[in-house]
Amino acid sequence: MSKLQAPKGVSEYFPPRSQYFELVRETLIQSARTAGYSLMELPVFEDTELFKRGVGESTDVVSKEMYTFEDRGGRSITLRPEGTAGVMRSVIENNLDKLSLPIKVWYSGAFFRAERPQAGRYRQFYQVGIEAIGLNDPEIDFEVIAVADRAFKKLGLKSYRLEITSLGDAQSRASHRKDLVAYISKLKLDEGTVARAALNPLRLFDDKRPEIQDAMKDAPLLLDYLSAESAESFAKVQELLTAANIAFTINPRMVRGLDYYTGTTFEFVSDKLGAQSGIGGGGRYDGLMAELGGNDLSGIGFGLGVDRVLLACEAEGLFDTSENKSDLDIFIIALSASEKSFVSNLINQLRDKGVSCDMAYGDRALKGAMKSADKSGARYSAVIGSDEIKSGNLALKDMKTGESKEVRISTLTAEFKTN
Ligand code: HAM
Repeated sequence: MSKLQAPKGVSEYFPPRSQYFELVRETLIQSARTAGYSLMELPVFEDTELFKRGVGESTDVVSKEMYTFEDRGGRSITLRPEGTAGVMRSVIENNLDKLSLPIKVWYSGAFFRAERPQAGRYRQFYQVGIEAIGLNDPEIDFEVIAVADRAFKKLGLKSYRLEITSLGDAQSRASHRKDLVAYISKLKLDEGTVARAALNPLRLFDDKRPEIQDAMKDAPLLLDYLSAESAESFAKVQELLTAANIAFTINPRMVRGLDYYTGTTFEFVSDKLGAQSGIGGGGRYDGLMAELGGNDLSGIGFGLGVDRVLLACEAEGLFDTSENKSDLDIFIIALSASEKSFVSNLINQLRDKGVSCDMAYGDRALKGAMKSADKSGARYSAVIGSDEIKSGNLALKDMKTGESKEVRISTLTAEFKTN
């Protein structure tokens, strides 16, 4: 029979590497929790209309990369390509915007984009994201960027950069758009590009083709059109980043892949990842909530790519994969088949008390069982034979130092609380 394979381009994690995936994801989430963000758990699929309206039809994400299908009721459904639109939908639907503001939430899970797979670019990938909704304040822009930066530093990452820009307020964008459209109208472009520019002229800054990049060399930059208010807010964000020792560069040509951005926008880029170097990004999205039928509240957030952050950590040599990182306190081996039930019962009781433990299963000889103890990465191991059961004592072996000490089986739990 032919072997089944995972669909092309999906990322998946299994032991031992999955423990580092988990560590990365937890560290990113913990940084959000530390700053007062609460969990939002959302559906993986939504009505297609949500992403069309929320993310924008000029984007590659919506026009080329969505996993869209008809469900059994004939509705058009899309696997979520990103998290912000879903958060807004839920906030509006559940009237969360009537509660005290800002609403600060985090989320984590799988996202789907039918991109051409390559290293660090997957069709199913993982993000940890946060959104702070209901405040338009440079302090919260700073907070959001700092939450991401703190998580990266906590993981030990060093070779990454933060790029920021401002896409201004409606007034800034309107005056820039006029000049940008006039500039673009003088270029010789193919039909598809003209159509894309008509939906969102900023998209052309993001076009990877050298001839378009060349044509856009002298295009007017939004940063030069910021209203006094937008410029002041952007200056304040920079001041706060500088005061917090968060290094950044201003990239006035940054265009994010989603249409909803306004004001402060940012990207974190790893120097170690080659083409798919964006380890996270986000920005402000004033207008998105109103566009989706809710109150006209502003918001800001980010999405961090867990897969890519893991790759960046590995590329920087932050994880010692030769060492089994394990949560196990103790691994217990029964000397012979007759002590098996005793050991099974003992580890069951230890687990009831919160001690993480495992045992050697099957009919393995002592040598094989010792190997399993080694592989398990447990801090301690012990062998239980008829002598141990009779005396009620066992030799607790420290797997790092090789030293053993005699302890009472009945008070084993206490060992792990004090150690
Ligand atoms: P995004 O820049 O499209 O933003 O995605 C955020 C991060 O997800 C990227 O920086 C990257 O690390 C990761 N990522 C995106 N696509 C892939 C892929 N195909 N394979 C692997 N990793 C990928 C958003 O999604 C916005 N919702 C972020 C946001 C939240 N903005 C405001 N609030």
